[in-house]
Amino acid sequence: MSPPSLKLNSGHSIPTIGLGTWQSKPGEVAAAIKTAVAAGYRHIDCAHVYQNQKEVGEALKEILDEGKVKREELFITSKIWNTFHSEAKTHENVDIILADLQLSYVDLMLIHWPQGYAEGGELFPAGENGKMRYSDVDYLETWKALEAAHKAGKCRSIGVSNFTSKQIQRVWDAAEVKPACLQVELHPYFTQVKLREFCKEKGIVVVGYSPLGNPGSAFFRKDGDPNVLTNDVVAAIAKAHGKTPAQIVLRWFVESGLSAIPKSVTPQRILENFSVFDFKLTAEEMKSIDELNRGWRLVDPSPRDGDHPFFGFNDEF
Ligand SMILES: NC(=O)c1ccc[n+]([C@@H]2O[C@H](COP(=O)([O-])OP(=O)(O)OC[C@H]3O[C@@H](n4cnc5c(N)ncnc54)[C@H](OP(=O)(O)O)[C@@H]3O)[C@@H](O)[C@H]2O)c1
Repeated sequence: MSPPSLKLNSGHSIPTIGLGTWQSKPGEVAAAIKTAVAAGYRHIDCAHVYQNQKEVGEALKEILDEGKVKREELFITSKIWNTFHSEAKTHENVDIILADLQLSYVDLMLIHWPQGYAEGGELFPAGENGKMRYSDVDYLETWKALEAAHKAGKCRSIGVSNFTSKQIQRVWDAAEVKPACLQVELHPYFTQVKLREFCKEKGIVVVGYSPLGNPGSAFFRKDGDPNVLTNDVVAAIAKAHGKTPAQIVLRWFVESGLSAIPKSVTPQRILENFSVFDFKLTAEEMKSIDELNRGWRLVDPSPRDGDHPFFGFNDEF
């Protein structure tokens, strides 16, 4: 049986629960993907900047060669990195990604961030005072290249990540192929209600990243940052259903009409995070999780990107 999915405006469908791969180390990510696919996951979230796509590609090849799962059953997402925003570089990045993943197409290609960095060199071209060296390439140019890659059959659906409503509207107005998906940080402490409403009106599917609030990350996480998985409300609902806090949070995504891409390299957690289709939250429980929002953003690259003209996190939503 195929896992629950959401319909994209491209005509394709994205499975609601996917496996994240950011910070999945070499030697860990292939095993995580094999465990996930064996457990029923069909959606894997990747990116050029995670620097583990070659290993992801090897795992995918093994899985497909084994023949139990067909390519059409998998949904593979990747993302164009900030140092590849010009038209020529975007095409180059699409081809690198496909080669690394050993695929002839990805199911979804996203522009990872609206702000571009100096092209042609390292992934994080350091400038002064902790800032990156920026490029002034407009993300509309990146979008145009993605439209061409889509028409060439290399990306079945295309979308954006970390874009604000204003930036999405700008792409929308210029686009021949409308964005199918927005991937943004989303969890009970950052529920993004206005942005979700905006996307709903346009028929853009929202995928939540750091859906568990990334409790284990040293990157971006600061002392005193909250932990979604130890929240009392979530814990009480978990107890009532005989489920874990992570399962409650992921079930909240499913019932909110959202996709979520929890990352884990721990076999038991990979299974746990997918085991969310056999129970339901009550309307009251859903509401009490909605009300946990505190506008807390974990992934905030403003120290390195904040001066970029396309840095959007100062927008209202
Ligand atoms: N578009 C973007 O800019 C962007 C930004 C951030 C993330 N993402 C994507 O979203 C994915 C998920 O976000 P994320 O990795 O930041 O955070 P996350 O999925 O919220 O949290 C991952 C962390 O939680 C732990 N964990 C996983 N399942 C758990 C469970 N059931 N119980 C307790 N702990 C659990 C993991 O540990 P173990 O692995 O050790 O089990 C890991 O430390 C990323 O991997 C990436 O694919 C995209």
